[in-house]
Amino acid sequence: MCGIVGIIGQGEVAPLLIEGLMRLEYRGYDSAGIATLVNGGIERRRAEGKIANLKARLDEAPVAGTIGIGHTRWATHGVPNEVNAHPHATARVAVVHNGIIENFRELREELTAAGQVFESDTDTEAVVHLIDHHLGRGMDPEEAVAAALKRLEGAFALAVLFAGRHDLLIGARRGSPLAIGHGDGEMFLGSDALALAPLTRRIAYLEDGDWCVLSAEGARVFDAEGAPVERPVVQTAFSGAMIGKGEHRHFMAKEIFEQPQVMGDTLNAMFNPAERTITLPDLGMDLKDISRVTLIGCGTASLAASVAKYWIEHVARVPVEVDVASEFRYRCPPLPEGGVALFISQSGETADTLAALRYAKSQGQRVIGVVNVPESTIAREADAVLPTLAGPEIGVAATKTFVSQLMVLACFSLALAEARGAVAPDRVAALSAALAEVPSRAVEVLNHDKRIRDIAADLAEARDVLYLGRGTSYPLALEGALKLKEISYIHAEGYAAGEMKHGPIALIDETVPVIVIAPSDGLFEKTASNVQEVVARGGRVVLFSDAAGIARMGDTALYAIEMPAVDPFVTPLLYALPIQLLAYHIAVHKGTDVDQPRNLAKSVTVE
Ligand code: AGP
Repeated sequence: MCGIVGIIGQGEVAPLLIEGLMRLEYRGYDSAGIATLVNGGIERRRAEGKIANLKARLDEAPVAGTIGIGHTRWATHGVPNEVNAHPHATARVAVVHNGIIENFRELREELTAAGQVFESDTDTEAVVHLIDHHLGRGMDPEEAVAAALKRLEGAFALAVLFAGRHDLLIGARRGSPLAIGHGDGEMFLGSDALALAPLTRRIAYLEDGDWCVLSAEGARVFDAEGAPVERPVVQTAFSGAMIGKGEHRHFMAKEIFEQPQVMGDTLNAMFNPAERTITLPDLGMDLKDISRVTLIGCGTASLAASVAKYWIEHVARVPVEVDVASEFRYRCPPLPEGGVALFISQSGETADTLAALRYAKSQGQRVIGVVNVPESTIAREADAVLPTLAGPEIGVAATKTFVSQLMVLACFSLALAEARGAVAPDRVAALSAALAEVPSRAVEVLNHDKRIRDIAADLAEARDVLYLGRGTSYPLALEGALKLKEISYIHAEGYAAGEMKHGPIALIDETVPVIVIAPSDGLFEKTASNVQEVVARGGRVVLFSDAAGIARMGDTALYAIEMPAVDPFVTPLLYALPIQLLAYHIAVHKGTDVDQPRNLAKSVTVE
């Protein structure tokens, strides 16, 4: 998704705008630009592609100014090129925007008829001409923006710069996140705290409908009705240091190898090793009163929910409904009074997940956010938060946040089971202890990295790949396929292994690698039969199992990766790692942009 930075500074802002945009690169983008005021006039520099191209443009034609706005664009309307890159501007005003203006065509017609001249194919340009139109009719900047906001439909975060106004920026938020940064004699706007961290750690988050007027001395905030409101200034946890890749070639690799630490950190926030008990943060409710659980997320987060469904139903004996947020929010399902709904999101800003949360809240559910960004919108709107402690995840493909979500959900499952007396305390203690073993077993799994890299080289030319699993390995099969799709661009599908005979087996021949996730649990024998069926038709099987499973499978599989023998309850946390490595190495082999795959955004803040 697009990224926004705005600065009212004391020194030259162009380098600071670029630094802020670089911290937003992880969100995914396809063009970038900045605008500053030079002698009162708006100066823009924009470039297609990566920020390096924009920096080259600035090297050719530097731009001065102590106030400015910057943007990384993830194209929604209009191809990624310089003309469509933000900021969009007239002589009087410049705008950067994250979101979608749903009524931009109507506005474009109306404003063109009123004499405004459009140059791009974007929805955003309607905003700048709408504000310009009001300025041209004598409104001051605040009046012009307030009038424009009343006409806009859709989702947006905006930062607006005005010719001749060296001490004024206006921001607005409706559906897409925007934060105010408080400096000393400087003020900032940003899509998130990470972008502003090099500039300030004192952050105030705008709520939906808010708009704000910044000067170097501070900010005035107004709600959707125009009434002045106060938004608390918090000290963000993000460091100003640029997050690096360490000795890794990609952020994704770094984040894969951070997982043992991340799982340990997340577990240790809830697990008491001496008593082998799990204590959740205060959820403001008595777990034993929970009669049904709803788990909602998008993409990888929804697959963490799918794993948790098996856990909760198995150990806590509570029925669970899982759905992807984009379906749930429009399906408007009836929800039981007193039900609890968990919304899983590493960014805490995914538009569909946020909308689903608001629906569940409207239906009387107690809503819990499972998020990696404690200051995010989902965290702020939830009744309670179960934090994942993965640290900032820069790679677009979710890895460490996925296993951290799993760890949180595993702990929630055990705490719920214990509160309901669904399992004996010593069983909860045994499963908690198994969780405590996971970080060290994960280190063992990551030692397979080079072997998996070699296997990846053999699979990289495949055009279709099938992933199979049963039980909690079925959502992992879906996640493995999603990882491969999103970073290598190879078509891949995850399937319940028991479904093979109901269609997918027709796909099998020697050109289709089949990745089988099969710990030697109670379902292993069933999956072993599926592997035989695949091999009998020429399929090339890559098997992830433990020693017992591999021994049982003999030399049926083309490749077998031995996983640690662990309690079936914790296998998803471990088996996530090799499927991430496989996708990563295949993508590297193919030369795709692993950290910022084409067309993808790290945080999907528009629906
Ligand atoms: C996962 O690798 C993808 N990046 C994507 O599916 C992601 O999980 C999804 O967009 C949800 O994002 P969230 O966790 O920030 O809500």
